[in-house]
Amino acid sequence: MKKRLLFIALGILIANVVFPQGNDSHKPKNLQVLKFDSIPETKKFMKQISKDLGVKCKFCHNLDDFSLDTDHKKIGRHMINMTMKINDEYFTWEKARNVTCWTCHQGQKEPPEKK
Ligand code: HEC
Ligand code: HEC
Repeated sequence: MKKRLLFIALGILIANVVFPQGNDSHKPKNLQVLKFDSIPETKKFMKQISKDLGVKCKFCHNLDDFSLDTDHKKIGRHMINMTMKINDEYFTWEKARNVTCWTCHQGQKEPPEKK
């Protein structure tokens, strides 16, 4: 019996070393639009869009689990998809600049309506 418990404890220990939870080595679970395979790549992009909108991660995320969808995250996904489409389908000439969240948002949650 004792031996078995030790075995289980050892198993948990090994599982934690091989499959660490809550750090950057696991893969994104719920990317429906972006094509990143790693969390660090995803975070780099996320830092950029947060800056472009002048918001913190928690504006779109449940900080306990970034893979959960929230209302703002869903709008964000829609906007990421739209921005990728604008670039792929419209700004296709040579040396066309990249449309980003900043192009419209300019550091604000909602783009300014008029001057
Ligand atoms: C404007 C909304 C928005 C902001 C702000 C934002 N995110 Fe995201 N984040 C998203 C969306 C949308 C997705 C899913 C994209 C998709 O479906 O391809 C996502 C996905 C992620 C994922 C992948 C989760 C998984 O496992 O599926 C991580 C990690 C993440 N964001 C981290 C961050 C961090 C860190 C910040 C702050 C620096 C941040 N995000 C700010 C909208 C946002
Ligand atoms: C072509 C212009 C344009 C681009 C590019 C754009 N947005 Fe938006 N975005 C808007 C407009 C306009 C609104 C306000 C929509 C409304 O009136 O409800 C908005 C609203 C939002 C909102 C909702 C804000 C709130 O207060 O609820 C989020 C989140 C958002 N955008 C994220 C993004 C992200 C992330 C990107 C880049 C991947 C992006 N947007 C790129 C035009 C744009």
